[in-house]
Amino acid sequence: MSSGALADRAIVVTGAGRGLGLAIARRLGADGADLWLADIRADWGEAAAADLRADGVKARFVQVDLAQEDSVRAMAEVVTADRPLYGLVNNAALADGVGGKAIHELSVAEWDRVLGVNLRGTFLVSRALVPSIIAGGGGRVVAIGSDAALYGSPRLGHYIASKGGVSALTRAMSRDLGPHQITVNTVSPGLTESESASMVPAERHELYRLNRALDRPQQPADLVGAVAFLMGDEASFITGQQLVVNGGFVLN
Ligand SMILES: NC(=O)c1ccc[n+]([C@@H]2O[C@H](COP(=O)([O-])OP(=O)(O)OC[C@H]3O[C@@H](n4cnc5c(N)ncnc54)[C@H](O)[C@@H]3O)[C@@H](O)[C@H]2O)c1
Repeated sequence: MSSGALADRAIVVTGAGRGLGLAIARRLGADGADLWLADIRADWGEAAAADLRADGVKARFVQVDLAQEDSVRAMAEVVTADRPLYGLVNNAALADGVGGKAIHELSVAEWDRVLGVNLRGTFLVSRALVPSIIAGGGGRVVAIGSDAALYGSPRLGHYIASKGGVSALTRAMSRDLGPHQITVNTVSPGLTESESASMVPAERHELYRLNRALDRPQQPADLVGAVAFLMGDEASFITGQQLVVNGGFVLN
């Protein structure tokens, strides 16, 4: 039996193989959660789960491709086999190397690929796992959005549309799932020093650096407390909201 605010609560974190998803998983694990790390990259996911277990966290890896309905269904069977879930963090997204083209330069294939993982994938995972959270008597869903969807960053239209869609879906889900004692919220980070952000052009890093209210780079550790709070008991009356964690770059 673990101790902590989320002791033994079964939580799925998608895209937890690296980056913000792994940082979030580590934080929820420190609070005692029983974690499923879901990722398309088995090499990253297995390594991340082993790393967390070495630190005494309950963590198992499950492979999933959010773009494939059958894959999401198979993942759901695995993670709900033992017992009902308490929580879901919809973090996985194509966030790496997707920028660079204005809206009239994007191909339909590029649009479909990003929306297919980031928005449709979030819907597929939520649809597959929410019944287990309902069966367990309620719980938490947190989606990871992006403040880029509020700022309207240039040459990132498909990604921004997907993230705006995720926060709109959050509002809709909060009303659908409120009767089942499930809260649904979005946490939207700003540009964060992580593996994927190394692909972001220097000018965009500079834009954030010059315009944050707090004058320092954002780290993955800046985000995880907000997610842990929204997953916990003290956030039981907060739902349908977007919490922007970006050092005051965009003021929501
Ligand atoms: N890093 C940032 O600056 C930043 C800023 C704002 C929002 N975000 C958001 O935070 C979240 C995490 O971003 P990150 O920077 O850690 O990205 P990342 O690319 O480092 O990690 C994303 C993870 O999702 C997984 N993934 C990708 N496609 C998948 C699929 N089809 N099925 C299953 N898993 C898949 C990847 O393997 C990876 O482990 C994303 O939702 C991203 O949009 C990141």
